Amino acid sequence: MSAGTSSTVGEQPAGQPCYADAASYSPARIVAHTKIADNTWRLRLDCPAIASTAIPGQFAMVRIPHRSDPLLARPLAVYDTFADASGEAGEAPLRRYADFIYAVHGRFTTALREVPVGHELIAWGPLGNGFQIPAVEHLVLVAGGIGQTALLGLGRERLGQAAYGPASRLQPPRSGRVTCCWGARHAGLFGGIEDYRSAGIDVHQATLDGSAGLRGTVVDLLDSLFDQPGAVPPAAHTRRLHIACCGPDPMMAAVARWAAARQISCDVSLEAPMACGIGICFTCVARVRDDSGSWDYRRTCIEGPVFDATRIEW
Ligand SMILES: Cc1cc2nc3c(=O)[nH]c(=O)nc-3n(C[C@H](O)[C@H](O)[C@H](O)COP(=O)(O)OP(=O)(O)OC[C@H]3O[C@@H](n4cnc5c(N)ncnc54)[C@H](O)[C@@H]3O)c2cc1C
Ligand code: FES
Repeated sequence: MSAGTSSTVGEQPAGQPCYADAASYSPARIVAHTKIADNTWRLRLDCPAIASTAIPGQFAMVRIPHRSDPLLARPLAVYDTFADASGEAGEAPLRRYADFIYAVHGRFTTALREVPVGHELIAWGPLGNGFQIPAVEHLVLVAGGIGQTALLGLGRERLGQAAYGPASRLQPPRSGRVTCCWGARHAGLFGGIEDYRSAGIDVHQATLDGSAGLRGTVVDLLDSLFDQPGAVPPAAHTRRLHIACCGPDPMMAAVARWAAARQISCDVSLEAPMACGIGICFTCVARVRDDSGSWDYRRTCIEGPVFDATRIEW
């Protein structure tokens, strides 16, 4: 993994820069790198430019320098940010560290798992629109698999537990209650669940094998929480409830249908594959409907990743 020594597949020959190495992307030193659940790792990067400006729902493109395999960076949601103690007297301390959580799947995440603390990655961001959610009494975060990474900051912010973004940002309205409905294949995959609970978020789990929470999907979980006899009637949901959702496409499509059937507003954060993250390559397009009902391709990296769920042509 060391820079400039090139004997293994994917490592760049010494002295030959990879396509993004020469660009003005920020080096980001790894200050912590820990396994937190089955197949799931938390990465803490020293990256003040991202940490001090990212808002919930934004992401960074991350790559391992001096490697051509994988050639392209991968998008990772900014999970949380932390201030260091270096703020001048009377000023808010600089947010310097950003946490990312990733599931090991393919070439990038498999290689990333092996990069030790103290080494540098390259990261550019924050990117994308982030969540822009109206004032609602009850915010429901719906996560599938690793999709929870896009949602923690939103929940913390709405409960007044944290503030994100540049100092000039108008802080969004608070919600009286934040619930997280989180579905995964089995109990070993809920990496970061203690962060949700310690923020005061009411967490409900669903697993396909029944090893934690409700046996079933996250839509079954929504049914069990909101469609029981005596639950708040749908018309009142419309004004009081909002869903923010992130996970695999079929799960988000199902949640979008569930919300639409009950006239509950819903935003989804799409996990489209991305190559550049900055609007140049069109790798990341999704079919998004306009006011007339016809759809066109929209770039998830700059016009998303967060969209009104009713606009997506799934
Ligand atoms: C805005 C945005 C934010 C994201 N945030 C995160 C994040 O915080 N943490 C995170 O782990 N991922 C996140 N992703 C997804 C991540 O960028 C991709 O999973 C990425 O492709 C992983 O790179 P890889 O080289 O390891 O896998 P690839 O080689 O790209 O993929 C290998 C195989 O695994 C499959 N695969 C990849 N990822 C997943 C997955 N999550 N679930 C199921 N199958 C998968 C692919 O379809 C492919 O078949 C995000 C994506 C977007 C667009
Ligand atoms: S990832 Fe290149 S345009 Fe979106």
